[in-house]
Amino acid sequence: MSTVKYEFDPKGMPFRRLGPSGLRVPVFSLGGWLTLGGTVVGDPVKDIIKVAYEHGINMFDTAEGYAKGHSEVEMGRVIKELGYRRTDLIITTKLFFGTRTGPNDTGLSRKHIVEGTQASLERLGLDYVDVIFAHRPDYSTPMEEIVRAFNYVIDKGWAFYWATSEWSARDIEEAYHVADKLGLVAPIAEQCQHHMLHRERPEKEYAPLYKKYAIGTTVWSALASGLLTGKYNNGIPENSRFATHSDFFKDTLKSLNEEEGLAKITKVQELTRLAEEELGCSVTHLALAWVAKNPNTSTVILGASKPEQVLDNIKALDVIPKLTPEVLDKIEAILDNKPSPIPTFGRPALDPHGRA
Ligand SMILES: NC(=O)c1ccc[n+]([C@@H]2O[C@H](COP(=O)([O-])OP(=O)(O)OC[C@H]3O[C@@H](n4cnc5c(N)ncnc54)[C@H](OP(=O)(O)O)[C@@H]3O)[C@@H](O)[C@H]2O)c1
Repeated sequence: MSTVKYEFDPKGMPFRRLGPSGLRVPVFSLGGWLTLGGTVVGDPVKDIIKVAYEHGINMFDTAEGYAKGHSEVEMGRVIKELGYRRTDLIITTKLFFGTRTGPNDTGLSRKHIVEGTQASLERLGLDYVDVIFAHRPDYSTPMEEIVRAFNYVIDKGWAFYWATSEWSARDIEEAYHVADKLGLVAPIAEQCQHHMLHRERPEKEYAPLYKKYAIGTTVWSALASGLLTGKYNNGIPENSRFATHSDFFKDTLKSLNEEEGLAKITKVQELTRLAEEELGCSVTHLALAWVAKNPNTSTVILGASKPEQVLDNIKALDVIPKLTPEVLDKIEAILDNKPSPIPTFGRPALDPHGRA
């Protein structure tokens, strides 16, 4: 990378280990799905990344499939133009969906993992990414091929770590066992959807993985694409995500007029009251802080269509310490969706330290 114009200042941003690795990631990071390179192009991309970086966010997430590769192009361009030091940055990208549709342009074959990584690096204008994610599982490719290919990418120096996204616990277990058997590096994290209205997989299905392998999560859609900001309580505002991507979100839009969606809006309204009256914050801050508070969350990837949203969302940092056990109980009472505990069949349950 050329001239360094800005030194990174974490500005009080807390950092956590990414799963069992030595990599430290900021509690809030920034991603580019639908926004950077999609609905946001040119200088506004720079404005969003700059404001994030200036407030302690040095981790940026993209994917080969975001805006058919344009997200990587825009992110790479902006990072270069802003003159950030590469070692100050954590850049993550994801492979699976590809930028083209040929039989070998998608998925997790060795061919696509190797060629896809090279193409992502070229679009980003970087020599390496910090973490490369398998964006989805590929049931048509043997797990040994996938594990070996990601290890090859790491050995080549094109990525430091590999991780999964929206894999089932069973698939992640298989990857671990294959890696272990072959003496290879296993995935360190899972990039999963986790928010107040989507809990079963991150909180229950993955629970054994946190214990056994210490995997971390890089959480996506912590605001449920904006639903948890309250912006959809009274219809669909112009230029909001559900308006600009109405086709992609057609099922969500339909459900907002049905019992299931209306029940979610009611919860958002009740959470808003709790946030404003008892915590002096917005429901947006409460929703982000709630995911960040989870001990298995390594980083919450923020999404933003404007710099002001980044500024607003990082205020959630101040709310994390306000989430006392009493407040968390009140949130549970509103959400009424806590996944049931893993059965113990009559044996006394253990705490996280293995004590009865
Ligand atoms: N691995 C995966 O499969 C996967 C899937 C999805 C996302 N991700 C990653 O996770 C990142 C975040 O996901 P996401 O974008 O869905 O997160 P999100 O936080 O649930 O939604 C972000 C969107 O909500 C709206 N918003 C954000 N802050 C707001 C605020 N303070 N006030 C009002 N509206 C606000 C904005 O949309 P509008 O202004 O347009 O309404 C923004 O683009 C992505 O960029 C990507 O890196 C990964």
